[in-house]
Amino acid sequence: MILCQITDCHIADGRHLFGAIDTAGGLARAVERINGLDPAPDLVLVTGDLVNDGTAAQYRHFRSLVEALGRPIRVLPGNHDDRAEMRAAFGGTEALPVPAHTPFLHYVERHGPVRLIALDTLDPGKTPGLLCDDRLAWLEARLREDRQSPTLIAMHHPPFQTGMPMMDRYGLEGRARFEALIESAPNVQRIVAGHVHRTVAARVGHATAQIAPSTAHTLAWEVRSDRPPHWTDEPAGLLLHVWGPEERFVTHHLLTQPPHLRRLG
Ligand SMILES: [Fe+2]
Repeated sequence: MILCQITDCHIADGRHLFGAIDTAGGLARAVERINGLDPAPDLVLVTGDLVNDGTAAQYRHFRSLVEALGRPIRVLPGNHDDRAEMRAAFGGTEALPVPAHTPFLHYVERHGPVRLIALDTLDPGKTPGLLCDDRLAWLEARLREDRQSPTLIAMHHPPFQTGMPMMDRYGLEGRARFEALIESAPNVQRIVAGHVHRTVAARVGHATAQIAPSTAHTLAWEVRSDRPPHWTDEPAGLLLHVWGPEERFVTHHLLTQPPHLRRLG
């Protein structure tokens, strides 16, 4: 079982986001990289910020790019996404397996031996994420109904502080209660997220929580609080979470392209 994770594709209007970042090109190169993998991943999971402004046109563009994937995909929302437009673009398809009128875009599925729980951490209009009472109750119920299957939880906002102050202030509200739920579910092995636009890992409860790099632009490593966030030309990438021979997930980080940014202002 190979689960490929891509994230923070930020498909934008026009060719370049901020006049500099070719986000569509970044996603196209990720698709090309995935299509060249042998064996091919069983599933491609997109952990939010599919597009930059949540518009129907941007979701159409995103769909046109991922249609070149020969693999099934699943999507979940990030802070740049719009639930209604995501539903319009993907609702009723296998990419977003949620009922028509649920308030949140979260779901649970089995893929081979692995259980996938996709969480919706979107708090509309805000950059930080939120796990409210309703969503935590939903997660608690999903975890309680299966204490055996190896489980991977996917979400946009990481449930830990990265030590990068300019991103941590846009973190996840409710993460302490989330971690308490993880502690109660020993079969949760992996938590995967996006949002930070670089590869970071930490322990949450007993599980490894892993942030994937963006397919487009990378945030510079910066732990000083007196410096503003800035982008860097470190290569974009993706993660492969492989359900391995020793009954555990092993995560591989693949680069998808050389530095591709034009001069940033
Ligand atoms: Fe993002």
